[in-house]
Amino acid sequence: MSVRIITLDGPSGAGKGTAGIGLAKKLNYYYLDSGALYRLLALAAQRHKVDLDNQSAVTTLAAHFDIDFKNTAIGAMQVLLEGEDVTREIRMEHVASAASRVAMHAGVRSALVDRQRLFAKSPGLVADGRDMGTVIFPDAELKIYLTASSEVRASRRHKQLLEKGENVSLHAVRIQVDERDERDRSRKSSPLRPAASAIQIDTSAMSAEEVLNKLLEIAVIRGLFH
Ligand code: DC
Repeated sequence: MSVRIITLDGPSGAGKGTAGIGLAKKLNYYYLDSGALYRLLALAAQRHKVDLDNQSAVTTLAAHFDIDFKNTAIGAMQVLLEGEDVTREIRMEHVASAASRVAMHAGVRSALVDRQRLFAKSPGLVADGRDMGTVIFPDAELKIYLTASSEVRASRRHKQLLEKGENVSLHAVRIQVDERDERDRSRKSSPLRPAASAIQIDTSAMSAEEVLNKLLEIAVIRGLFH
């Protein structure tokens, strides 16, 4: 049976995670949170005192680091680094910034390609990230690119961080998110950009539910419901 792939790319706070998890549940597909891989790598580098800017050392780590995604329910996935549950820790904004730094290295990106493609299993996969439609799954059946204004994205991230117990100001989050997105967009290797055939949706004025409904509508039109 063929594997159907939906890619969901865009900057942080565009609404990919919530919509992607919701879509995967509705379609009964697998879900890849590719950002978690870069976050895990950044955390591993920090723990092993590997300099984030040292491409060859971080690439070696990317080729060998011991990670696991415990397949509980979609959206409630447990993330393990060297056997330790780091599900909460990788969500911190300082880990996200470090993830964006290790993600700049071409060697790191190629070391992680196969790990990401292994998530593609029947009946299908919703792949969430920055280069899902452009590099990792170029033949995906449906490519979506979500955007939103910088203000809205920062405010969503701020709310998420507060819910997770990280006490930061909206101003600080805005600066970090803008810096991270600029780095993700301007890097040489697999920069954040929409795939040529991606459907682009600006979610600034949409609720999470509206974004999910819009994606479901598109999935129905494309015949992705069984
Ligand atoms: O999706 P996220 O916010 O968890 O991702 C954290 C960082 O990881 C993001 O700022 C850039 C990097 N990343 C990437 O370069 N490519 C991906 N496919 C996913 C994430």
